[in-house]
Amino acid sequence: MTPYLTVVVPTYRERDNVSPLVTRLDAALAGIAWEVVFVDDDSPDGTYAEARRIARDDPRVRCIRRIGRRGLSSAAIEGVLSSSAEYVAVMDGDLQHDETRLPEMLRAVQAGSDIAVASRHAEGGDAAGLSGVWRHRISQSGIRAANAMLAVRLSDPMSGFFLLRRDLFERVAPRLSGQGFKILLDLLLSSRLPLHVAEVPMMFAAREMGESKLDVLVMAQFAGMLLDKTTHGLLPLRFVSFALVGGVGVLAHLSVLTALRGTGWGFAATQVIATIAAMGLNFWLNNAITYRSDRLRGPALWRGLLLFMAVCSVGAIANVGIARLLYQAHSGWTPAGAMGAAIGVVWNYAVSATLVWRRR
Ligand code: GDD
Ligand code: MN
Repeated sequence: MTPYLTVVVPTYRERDNVSPLVTRLDAALAGIAWEVVFVDDDSPDGTYAEARRIARDDPRVRCIRRIGRRGLSSAAIEGVLSSSAEYVAVMDGDLQHDETRLPEMLRAVQAGSDIAVASRHAEGGDAAGLSGVWRHRISQSGIRAANAMLAVRLSDPMSGFFLLRRDLFERVAPRLSGQGFKILLDLLLSSRLPLHVAEVPMMFAAREMGESKLDVLVMAQFAGMLLDKTTHGLLPLRFVSFALVGGVGVLAHLSVLTALRGTGWGFAATQVIATIAAMGLNFWLNNAITYRSDRLRGPALWRGLLLFMAVCSVGAIANVGIARLLYQAHSGWTPAGAMGAAIGVVWNYAVSATLVWRRR
């Protein structure tokens, strides 16, 4: 029989939390036809293997193992899209979310709300499980930023624990940004109609096993996701990131050029060294930030570096060629230069996106 409720759990390095979570769901969801889908990004600790082991004896447990991918939001999306149930919930796999709230969340949506959100800041909720003063502060500024953009006021728009009808999720899914950790906010910002939200208070527990994966890059992805939503996807996020990294590359180039000035190697040689250094740095930054969710590793990393340098060299030739043509056609010095650079960036971005970081 098709389950009535699918609980989607994105995991990365949560092996020891899988079995306790299934036990808890079993107790919390008595009387409901449920299933749980672990969406694991090929965790080195073998989280997926643990989920499969349990799934062999329990048909309510499923697992999607993603290879070469990273990201909480995109994992949540894929888990929901693998479901045929009427209702879906998304929750963390580290036991910080209180699964006993699920039946109340389900009732709220059955009673007519579009989405039920487990809130740490609603009356009766608690965020004590956030580790440290800084996490609290960052969380508060995130809530303010989010509420400034939302049509509805939410006490906890940063929650990662919510429940809704699957067909509603599927309608919004094509517009989701899928970046970073904040899939709920993404959903609220991507829906054409404002959603009616029911808040269910939750005690956010402290983490017992494993560690948090939220880091500076995840926060940068949060800013990127908000930008994507405010500009209505006008500029692809990856292009913005790529262009910013390019700006850092220019600074690096000039620094190397200045640093090697007194060496007597001559301008041309120094310029070559500075160019190679800037390309290397750009490759590394793009691999770590712009293409974080498809990051190249091992031998693919070196092949990628060579390919990236080749692509950028062609970009530089195009840049100079076009700028020169424009200059000869009497566009001014600066506009011709800027146009050449712009075309170089677009070329580098478009070609490296398809050749260097193409999806395997
Ligand atoms: N598949 C996958 N891929 N899962 C991931 C990834 C990833 O790249 N990164 C994290 N996860 C999983 C973790 O394994 C965990 O089950 C869940 O996502 C939450 O990750 P944590 O690293 O524990 O995040 P947190 O506790 O700092 O913050 C979470 O809880 C907040 C409170 O509800 C996030 O879900 C926030 O979005 C949420 O607001
Ligand atoms: Mn956590």
